[in-house]
Amino acid sequence: SSAEDGEREKLIAAHELTAKFYHYLLKNTTHGQEAMNYLRSRGITDKQIDQFMIGYAPPEWDMLVRFLEKREFNAQRMEKGGLLIAKQDGSGHIDRFRDRIMFPIWNRDGKVIAFAGRILGEGQPKYLNSPETMLFNKSRNLYNFHQARVVMRKSRRVVLFEGYMDVIKAWSAGVHNGVASMGTALTEEHATMLQRNVEEAVICYDGDNAGQEAALKTIPLLEKAGLRTQVAVLPRGIDPDEFIERNGAQTFIREIIEHPVSSVKFKLIYAKKNHILLEEEGRKNYSLEAVGIIAELDSPTEREFYLKELSREVDLSLESLKQDCYLAREKKHKSKPQRDNNDNSWNNGRNEN
Ligand code: GTP
Ligand code: MN
Ligand code: MN
Ligand code: MN
Ligand code: MN
Repeated sequence: SSAEDGEREKLIAAHELTAKFYHYLLKNTTHGQEAMNYLRSRGITDKQIDQFMIGYAPPEWDMLVRFLEKREFNAQRMEKGGLLIAKQDGSGHIDRFRDRIMFPIWNRDGKVIAFAGRILGEGQPKYLNSPETMLFNKSRNLYNFHQARVVMRKSRRVVLFEGYMDVIKAWSAGVHNGVASMGTALTEEHATMLQRNVEEAVICYDGDNAGQEAALKTIPLLEKAGLRTQVAVLPRGIDPDEFIERNGAQTFIREIIEHPVSSVKFKLIYAKKNHILLEEEGRKNYSLEAVGIIAELDSPTEREFYLKELSREVDLSLESLKQDCYLAREKKHKSKPQRDNNDNSWNNGRNEN
């Protein structure tokens, strides 16, 4: 309805103004200076601060309340829109975000529709996001999608990160087709949105357990949407942002981004970690699990390729691995696959806030 359109427009206007306000406060206030120092310590430059319109929400309780009221925005609507919070005693509103580094979140038209606020240094929650509002639905929005779309379409490829910092650092390293889901698992809607723009996805999640497990769950989602999927694997325990800080942009591009492994290879590497190949039982179980992964491939050539590799690795004959692969495929075809790809309820083991 047009009343609803009007409300959306007002809320977008409020978000756009708020982003500029926070950006200004970061660059021009004493408190902002502390936030600036924090960003510098993280290796964020002025150029990145401007391009991603990074800002700072000061510690005051009502900085944004006053700013928005002066501009005649209705506090109750701004509360529904996620910028303000109602006081418990009903006596008015306070700012949602206080003493945090602010990352504006854009919709695909490049309008600010939400924020993520990071604490300066250690503390919980590390990131505070806008709630779901009439503008912001995190299962349908990807961080940086509006800027990445140009290069996504040109390169036919998207790079998926876990975090804001990863996207920003990777951008400066020359990865201009990077996006991130915001503290949730990638959804089917995300995958569809990507599939409309690219043919190929490179998952570049954190090198910790949570990240690698998330990658494993993201693969079938992307492939079901029709995207060729690869995984750029980081060293143990390191995320893209840290990798770039330690090793530089060039090394990140050359060693990580330009050398993704196929989704099957990634699953095989992951499976291997769970078995002790020096022990008979471990070698046997890994072999069977690996055959099961390879059996998912539809191309006989690709199956043979990986089976041959496996045969060398576990020192078993290609013949018997092929037979087990055949059996695994038979089994799969008989019992129609019942994989439930709609289950996105996990969120990397974190609680929402
Ligand atoms: P930095 O420490 O700033 O580099 O963040 P990070 O991106 O490396 O964080 P991490 O790897 O722990 O988490 C990845 C992503 O999950 C973040 O970018 C957020 O989107 C999300 N996330 C992490 N912690 C929280 C949290 O406390 N609350 C919410 N809502 N999301 C979080
Ligand atoms: Mn600026
Ligand atoms: Mn992580
Ligand atoms: Mn991380
Ligand atoms: Mn990080």
